[in-house]
Amino acid sequence: AQLNSLARAAGLEYFGTAIGGGQTGDSQYMSIASDTDEFGQLVPENGQKWESVQPNQGQFNYDSGDIVPNVAARNGQILRCHTLTWHSQLPRWVSSRSWSREELQSVIEVHIANVVGHYKGKCYHWDVVNEAAEEDGGWRGSVFYNTLGTDFLPISFNAAKAADPDAGLWYNDYNLEYNQEKTERALEIVQIFQDAGAPIDGVGFQGHLIVGTTPTRDQLADTLRRFTALGVDVAYTELDIRHASMPPSDQALATQGDDYANVVGSCLDVEDCVGVTVWGYTDKYSWVPGTFPGSGAALLWDENFNKKPAYTSVSSVLAAA
Ligand code: G3I
Repeated sequence: AQLNSLARAAGLEYFGTAIGGGQTGDSQYMSIASDTDEFGQLVPENGQKWESVQPNQGQFNYDSGDIVPNVAARNGQILRCHTLTWHSQLPRWVSSRSWSREELQSVIEVHIANVVGHYKGKCYHWDVVNEAAEEDGGWRGSVFYNTLGTDFLPISFNAAKAADPDAGLWYNDYNLEYNQEKTERALEIVQIFQDAGAPIDGVGFQGHLIVGTTPTRDQLADTLRRFTALGVDVAYTELDIRHASMPPSDQALATQGDDYANVVGSCLDVEDCVGVTVWGYTDKYSWVPGTFPGSGAALLWDENFNKKPAYTSVSSVLAAA
């Protein structure tokens, strides 16, 4: 049995991967991504983002956004949908204008009604709001926060609920794993949703981590439990663990395996941790080297589609559960 089958036998709902738009023409890539023994869930890496689906005001286009959902439907894979209210990959018509509160609320509501409506019934989870907190625990100064304060949070969730009452609605962020100031702010964000009566179902831990600095399994599980104690589900939504220097030594590849096992193991240890999604599965395609030059090899298969030690570690920790 492979990763998704093992994950399901261990009590998770899925083990999944992101797929980038440019990769759907790579048949070797797609045959592994479509193997439901490995991956029971897919998410588009970029196609559903605001700049892609509403590049100009009122002009909606789902050509890129539909590619991965169609693959998932064909294969019978769960679909996570990503993402609605986010400061990045946001077209300039939204980010570089000054809006009144009423105008921006309407812009968010129209976007979400259209996009969530387009995918109605297909998205198991929506990452409704992405990355609202800064590293130091402050609020990210996006057009959304700067115009609406924290009201943009419930506005987004209520719009998503209205457009697809059956989709799970998630807040998603990175570096929550370290249980520092940003984690405190994310806990407060959950409470803001709950106090506003907004329908939050889960918190996504993106899991963009670094080999050798990943917290232990127990530390990670404790952090996840701080969220599940508030009554929301959790998941790892964008897991990759990069080497800070390249190429990795055999020792570094083994450490990467231990780090992956700690992350996946922590999800197994927490009752309401529902699944693990890797942000791509092969080092042939990854956002990491472009964003962190000199870093890389963050995924489970190498660039020639050979399984790495990290694959074996994940497989073993799932099999042992
Ligand atoms: O499609 C254009 C292409 O037409 C153009 O020629 C080329 C030149 O720069 O850019 C292409 O767009 C790139 C796009 O990925 C598609 O490949 C963008 O430049 C590039 O910035 C974009 O990066 C994406 C990044 O989000 C943007 O913030 C990564 O692929 C994607 O993996 C990454 O994913 C994010 C999650 O959504 C949220 N959490 C963090 C995660 C990693 O940054």
